Amino acid sequence: MRPSTAPLPPTLVVIPTYDEREALPGTLARLRDAVPEAHALVVDDSSPDGTGEWADEVSRRDDHVHVLHRAGKEGLGPAYLAGFGWGLEHGFAQLVEMDADASHRPEQLPGLLEAVRRGADLAIGSRWVPGGRVHDWPLSRLLLSRVANLYVGALLGLRVRDATAGFRVFRAELLQRLVAQDIASQGYCFQVDMTRRARAEGAVIAEVPIDFDERTEGASKMSPRIVREALVLVTFWGLSRGAQQVLKVLH
Ligand code: GDD
Ligand code: MN
Repeated sequence: MRPSTAPLPPTLVVIPTYDEREALPGTLARLRDAVPEAHALVVDDSSPDGTGEWADEVSRRDDHVHVLHRAGKEGLGPAYLAGFGWGLEHGFAQLVEMDADASHRPEQLPGLLEAVRRGADLAIGSRWVPGGRVHDWPLSRLLLSRVANLYVGALLGLRVRDATAGFRVFRAELLQRLVAQDIASQGYCFQVDMTRRARAEGAVIAEVPIDFDERTEGASKMSPRIVREALVLVTFWGLSRGAQQVLKVLH
């Protein structure tokens, strides 16, 4: 896809961080090279390794970098919701989700932005559409992601191949409608939750193939608790959806 030369609508890349002091500098530098006009908002949950303080320092000399400090580690969902609130208040037209650990290639962000320019309300950087790839993930993580997406697909019928993906662009109008809802998901199922709510809003969703690189610095925050929460919530959402369909038929 040839990137457009039209000026970029005001764009905020929200980057949640917990102990990403080693990885964040490279990610921010690559983002600046790839999409110089974009602003970045680091949402740090008081990382013990000093990620937040480092980001503060950067934000003092770079007016495109902003930092939101949160009191403690509360999970991906609340961090993103705080970041989105800030971004919408500041009038950004599109808001990006991206991990700090360079698993998402900033160089592929223009492809996602292009999908929004062409009409998508939500562009998902997808590992599981043709052309999408995962590099260097252990078999256990590959299986988890595949099985999770099959389960989500079967129960929720989202018509999205990578519903747990964490590299996305939301049009502000859509995000405004989503954050007005009561979103309680804490862990990575936040991504599924946002996808299902976007579908329910009738949003135009585009999946763009991406390369997902396993991190080379720091460690994943994935935990059994995050998997459990996802399993419970997706099952609950699936059952509620099933019940609603039964009621519709009986009506
Ligand atoms: N502020 C904050 N608070 N940030 C967090 C928290 C938290 O509690 N937990 C994780 N993060 C940040 C990490 O610092 C990183 O920047 C990003 O969220 C993703 O976390 P990782 O721990 O690197 O996730 P992963 O590589 O295991 O998981 C990836 O795949 C998941 C499943 O597809 C991510 O892309 C997830 O978004 C995705 O759902
Ligand atoms: Mn990661």
